[in-house]
Amino acid sequence: MSSDNTILRTVVDLGDRSYEVCTGEGILGQVGYMMRQHNLNGTVAVISNPAVLDLYHDEVASSLDDHGLRSVFLSIREGETHKNLDTVRHLYEELLENSIERGDSIIALGGGQTGDIAGFVAATLLRGFDFVQDPTTVLAQVDAAIGGKVGVNLPLGKNLVGAFYQPRFVLSDVATLMSLPEREFRSGIAEIIKYACIRDREFFVYLEENLESLLARESRTMLHAISVSCGIKAEVVGQDELELTGVRSILNFGHTIGHAIESLTGYRRFLHGEAVAAGMVAAGHMGTAVTGFPGEELDRLVALERVADFSFDLGDLSPDDILDRVRFDKKVEGGRVRYVLPRRLGEVIPRTTVPEPVVHDALDYVWALT
Ligand SMILES: NC(=O)c1ccc[n+]([C@@H]2O[C@H](COP(=O)([O-])OP(=O)(O)OC[C@H]3O[C@@H](n4cnc5c(N)ncnc54)[C@H](O)[C@@H]3O)[C@@H](O)[C@H]2O)c1
Ligand SMILES: [Zn+2]
Repeated sequence: MSSDNTILRTVVDLGDRSYEVCTGEGILGQVGYMMRQHNLNGTVAVISNPAVLDLYHDEVASSLDDHGLRSVFLSIREGETHKNLDTVRHLYEELLENSIERGDSIIALGGGQTGDIAGFVAATLLRGFDFVQDPTTVLAQVDAAIGGKVGVNLPLGKNLVGAFYQPRFVLSDVATLMSLPEREFRSGIAEIIKYACIRDREFFVYLEENLESLLARESRTMLHAISVSCGIKAEVVGQDELELTGVRSILNFGHTIGHAIESLTGYRRFLHGEAVAAGMVAAGHMGTAVTGFPGEELDRLVALERVADFSFDLGDLSPDDILDRVRFDKKVEGGRVRYVLPRRLGEVIPRTTVPEPVVHDALDYVWALT
């Protein structure tokens, strides 16, 4: 990571597809300049949603305009239910109606939902457009916008249609996080805690000391926490872009159980990070039985999550419901049930098979925390 006055830069090192993740405060208005810097000189189609456009349309439009770039703004309906092939087809049609052609580029302005859809459109329409990510949620800034996974859901499951398609650059303005609803902001914090758990013990200690300031959205803390998280994501992606060697799978820490909680509740009751927060604790408990993860480190994880106000109240869901769903989800994905388990804070062991009674005990533990 290097820094100048306002921008922290992280490189995702992928040979001739390498790119920079630029994180700063108040830098959204630099998007036009950065497009030009990257030689993106054609028409720019900005894909976003009504809530985000209300807030940030003018800043982006005038920046593109100031740099002599023609822009077209397209809005998609918000919500996970609209992350589907219908939305993709609408976008294809709207882009073509607006005379977008090869050599033009697409910007995703918004959260992960927008980025995943816009990226999939960019990867597939006319066999590919230059693509830029302007993420505006914590989750998108530290995770979804980096690493090139793009795609949409099918009725059978999430993210079943997609591609690996890397952006030309990522521009993350932490000032945009000030308008994020409290619950969305907190949910994104779970991913930040995840990065500390999987790769960076020192960062975990930093979070123990600074989580309140992060939750208060103090810019220095946001900048630090987001750029460290981006650095970890970039490093992991750089080692295993296509999720072939197992390195990238460490990013799924907490997600096997988390996904089961989300899907069992129809993606409505819990935000992604809230479900992952419970999943990380469950994985931590499995770790105490399988990898020798120290009990006091599990306590620290639980304590940190409590500061972020994650609730372990899973209502009427039972551990057996979760176990059934984990088996089902893995069948749909065509995989075996494996977990990413911590060995110590800052280090995880991917692809671990865990005996079901151990999983059950871990779920009982999470339930008992409520
Ligand atoms: N591609 C990947 O690697 C990857 C990784 C993780 C998650 N995802 C995907 O990301 C999606 C979730 O992303 P998300 O959590 O960002 O949710 P989201 O995109 O649905 O955004 C959450 C809400 O916040 C609003 N919003 C966005 N930015 C705002 C801002 N600055 N101010 C006010 N409101 C704002 C949105 O309109 C929306 O209502 C899921 O579809 C998930 O599958 C992808
Ligand atoms: Zn996640």
